[in-house]
This record gives sequence, C-alpha cells and structure tokens, in this order.
Amino acid sequence: MKTIFSGIQPSGTPTIGNYIGAMKQFIELQNEYNCYFCIVDEHAITVPQEPQKLRQQIRSLAALYLAVGLDPQKATIFIQSEVSAHAEAGWIIQCNTSIGELERMTQFKDKSQKNGRAGVSAGLLTYPPLMVGDIVLYNADLVPVGDDQKQHLELTRDFVERFNKRYAQKNQEILTMPEVKIAEQGSRIMSLQEPTKKMSKSDTNVKGFISMLDEPAVIRKKIRSAVTDSTGVIEYNKEEKPGITNLLNIYSAATGQTVEELVQAYEGKGYGDFKADLAEAVVALLEPIQVRYQELLASEELDMILDEGAENARLVANKTLQRMKNAVGLGRKVRR
Ligand code: AMP
Ligand code: TRP
Repeated sequence: MKTIFSGIQPSGTPTIGNYIGAMKQFIELQNEYNCYFCIVDEHAITVPQEPQKLRQQIRSLAALYLAVGLDPQKATIFIQSEVSAHAEAGWIIQCNTSIGELERMTQFKDKSQKNGRAGVSAGLLTYPPLMVGDIVLYNADLVPVGDDQKQHLELTRDFVERFNKRYAQKNQEILTMPEVKIAEQGSRIMSLQEPTKKMSKSDTNVKGFISMLDEPAVIRKKIRSAVTDSTGVIEYNKEEKPGITNLLNIYSAATGQTVEELVQAYEGKGYGDFKADLAEAVVALLEPIQVRYQELLASEELDMILDEGAENARLVANKTLQRMKNAVGLGRKVRR
C-alpha cells in the first residue's frame, strides 16, 4: 500500500476552499492508501498566533477532520508538535537548503511583502524545510494539496533528490521521492469578494470566505453578496468571469454535478436564482458536518484518537529521523 501525507494549519477555521482543495481528496483517498493527516501547528506559529486561540483551533481542526469523514481506523490523525521528529528533521533539512531557494517561494514573498521583510519571523522563510520534513518522515509517496502548495512540493522533490545523492550509502536511497496530487477541479477556490485572490481562512475580510463552521444564515448572506459581474450569464470563464466561475466550481464540488451540467441547468436563469440554489447546496454539505463536529468536540474520543495518532506517527517518524541522522553523521551511529 502506498503512503499519503498531508496537513492543514490550525491558523483559523478551515474554509470551503480547504475542504474542496484538500479534505475532500483525503476522504476519497483514505481507503486506498496508508494515510497520515496532520494538524501542522508548528507551521501556524510562523505568523503571530494567540496561544489560547491556537490551542482551541488545533482541537477544532482535529474534530473537523473526523467530522468530514476521516476514519481513525484507516488514517493516522495527529498533531505535528506532539511528534518531536518534525522539528529535528526540519533542522537537518534547513541546513541542506539554500537561502536562495527559500527566498524564491511565492508564499514567502507574498507574506513578507505584506508585513515588511525585516519584521516577519525567520520561521516564515524556513517553513518549507519543516514541510519537507513532514512529508519525508512518513516516506510519503503522494501528497494531496491545493494548487498553492505546488511550489513547496517541487522544493520537496528537489531536496529529496539532492539529499539522496549527497548522502546515499551503497546507492541505497534514504528518503522516498513524493509526488504531488492536486484535485482535478477546485484546487484553487477563490475569495468571494476578490475572485482573483485565493480564498483564505486568515483573510481579514470575513465576507471573502465561507468557514466550514459558518451558520446557514451567514453562508446564505456571504453567497448572496459574492462578487460576480454585470452580464448576468452563467458561464465558465476564468479570465473574463472569475466570480461566477469560482461559484460554479464550489457548486460542482458541493453537489457532484459537473460544471457543464450546471451551466446547462442554469441557461437563461439569473445570478439571483443561481446563488440561492448554491447557498442551499453549501448548507446541505456543511450542516451534517457541523452536527458531527459539535458531538466530537465534546467527546473524550477525540483526545484518545489524537493520542493514538501521535504514538503511531512517532514510530514511523523516528525511524526515518534516525536514518537521516546516520546519513548526515549526527551523534553516534544507532544500529537497528
Ligand atoms: P492551509 O489552510 O494553508 O493550511 O491549507 C491546507 C490545505 O488546503 C492545502 O492543501 C492547501 O493547498 C489547501 N487550500 C487552502 N486554501 C485553498 C483554496 N482556496 N482552494 C483550494 N485549496 C486550498
Ligand atoms: N504548508 C501547507 C499549507 O500551508 C500545510 C502543510 C504543512 C502541508 N506540511 C505539509 C501540506 C505537508 C502537505 C504536506 O497549506
């Protein structure tokens, strides 16, 4: 069985963008792969977080993982900071990555531009090596992510090639080369207010995203006020009609209908009807998830699942970490 690793930052409540681009793929893949789904809290602190709130968001994300249908019998669900190998591997990887490579990352450029380079944390720059560590520690073959993570996955692949080449002993590979898996549709859900910008859970304009825990009335209101255009024709055209195209992607992901079917069904109808139906589709998708979420959040089961997940994860991660240390020459050689 091949292995999958993916993670989501507990830096806010996940949006339907996270659901469509990432979580939905996780659920579909858990039956066929050996899966690790991580709450990457060490990534979240690359930007300032409020401690109490972060704690709460970590548990909340864990409950959401389960509420959307991830099955702890099939997948290992755990919190990154509870497996110390991540931070240790991250250091070794940083020391084998150049500053130039990291400065080229668009996510770093975006985030450091907004806040001024000198003022952002060093972690924001060195975060991709931590992500590389997440992936290689579990010998992941496949990493399902949204479109925005493509560049980080390319960096991961470059790193694995370089590390294996540099440190391979007797031509034995140390790390597994991962492949990226991007959803065929909905890999980049856009902001409802600025449809040329990615929908993000940390957007200061809350009208730009639908959180997975938004109440039905809020979902309806946000969709009603989503930015479209003045032509009033429902068609799929990313360049000229990014707003309605984004809503078509969301509609398709929420109902399983194809974009072509939707365009046909709404021929001759206006944006008002379309948006009203879309809102009901999103409510129908999220309501049962929210009910399960509330049950899980209150249960002790959640903590047991996370304890067990961390234990499982440690077993695999520590083995890879030891392999990496041996390769680089850190400490004394441990024989197994
Ligand atoms: P993050 O919220 O940055 O931790 O992202 C977690 C996962 O969700 C990653 O696989 C992202 O690529 C994916 N993701 C985040 N935002 C979106 C979006 N607007 N559309 C599609 N996928 C997304
Ligand atoms: N960097 C990813 C994001 O911001 C989250 C992440 C961290 C991740 N480690 C990972 C995704 C490993 C896939 C695999 O969305």
